[in-house]
Amino acid sequence: MQVQGVDAEAYALARAHKPEHFVLERIVRPNILALEPYRCARDDFQEGVLLDANENALGPAIAPGSAYESLDLHRYPDPSLHAARERATALRGLPHPAYTFLGVGSDEVIDLIQRCFARPGQDKILICPPTYGMYRVSASINDIGVVQVPLVTANGAFQLDTPRVQAALRADPAIRIVFLCSPGNPTGTLIPLRDVQQVLDTPEFAGLVVVDEAYIDFAAEEQALGRKHGTEPVSAVSLVHEYANLVVSQTLSKSFGLAGVRLGLAFAQPPIVQVMNNTKAPYNISSPAAWLASQSLSEEGVARMRENVRTLVDERDRLCRALGAIPAIGAVLGGNDANFVLAQVLDRPRGVPDSQRAAHVYETMARHRGLVVRNRSSELGCAGCLRITIGTAAENDLCIALLTELLA
Ligand SMILES: Cc1ncc(COP(=O)(O)O)c(C=O)c1O
Repeated sequence: MQVQGVDAEAYALARAHKPEHFVLERIVRPNILALEPYRCARDDFQEGVLLDANENALGPAIAPGSAYESLDLHRYPDPSLHAARERATALRGLPHPAYTFLGVGSDEVIDLIQRCFARPGQDKILICPPTYGMYRVSASINDIGVVQVPLVTANGAFQLDTPRVQAALRADPAIRIVFLCSPGNPTGTLIPLRDVQQVLDTPEFAGLVVVDEAYIDFAAEEQALGRKHGTEPVSAVSLVHEYANLVVSQTLSKSFGLAGVRLGLAFAQPPIVQVMNNTKAPYNISSPAAWLASQSLSEEGVARMRENVRTLVDERDRLCRALGAIPAIGAVLGGNDANFVLAQVLDRPRGVPDSQRAAHVYETMARHRGLVVRNRSSELGCAGCLRITIGTAAENDLCIALLTELLA
């Protein structure tokens, strides 16, 4: 059986030839593969007198003059969400919108991939801690097992232990999805594409590799400025042409500054995108979200994103220098490739990471001084670590002043 609903043009575009052993239909859950996707009259007819969807013909009950009045909010959103999808596809250099899925944040993407490709009670995902918590939360919700292969954490390297990942995949055929986070959260560290490729090419692995690139624009911009990462591509989107077993997830929540809009993206070969489209709720992206996303993905929006990323990266470097001058803060761990830093609080006399002290500073700042960071000191390889998001210059100054004072 083939994936339902992929149009011929999109299938013709799906030319990924690697890895040779990969057959998508074998890893789609059988009930999902057999699914007749939900269809509505609007899929075929968008014009005319529309009495097909039980909408409210009198219009939206919102205050007159609202900025959203022009969006026809009394109508269900256009299911193809074409402007946002087309702009995202073009921005990432893919040939057709059929390569692009839009979700309610990348959190929906993470959940949906598990629902489409891992059978509850039987299959597993593989994660590489320390990593983003939602992979595991979604697995628990969907009754999917979790295999962990820690990153190499020594000296804050936070790199993939590729031989151990491959050994785990070989040893356990129930693993259907590998989640790699690059740049990682909380590690802030880019994973080189040669390591991702090794996982994609693992001969005994029949499943999917998801590369979560929520923070990729920060690494890409530094590369564009010639500051870091050489000349090889940093984003796994560059591998989507070649690999039929790859999904790259991104989001407008970070570099584009639209966390409130809830717009996540997944880039993959069209049959994978079609499986996800068949499975999602029919109108997952609201009209305002689709409109805001298309504005943000316009030429002006992307230019603004890049400018903001450059400002945040400069502020991040300034914050790192200031943290380096606080004796009770040791190394800033990881590769510093995102919009946060992982600062390690020390037990000063002994010069070792001090998680209790980190917890105390975190609590004091949040409860009594009105500045909230994230205590990550219980994460693997992150003893004593506070994860500090880069704020405005004034917010960063306040953070530096408070840490200097509280760690004196
Ligand atoms: C690595 C990573 N992936 C995904 C997300 C979720 O992003 P979204 O806002 O698109 O759901 C986050 C949010 O912090 C994240 O750190």
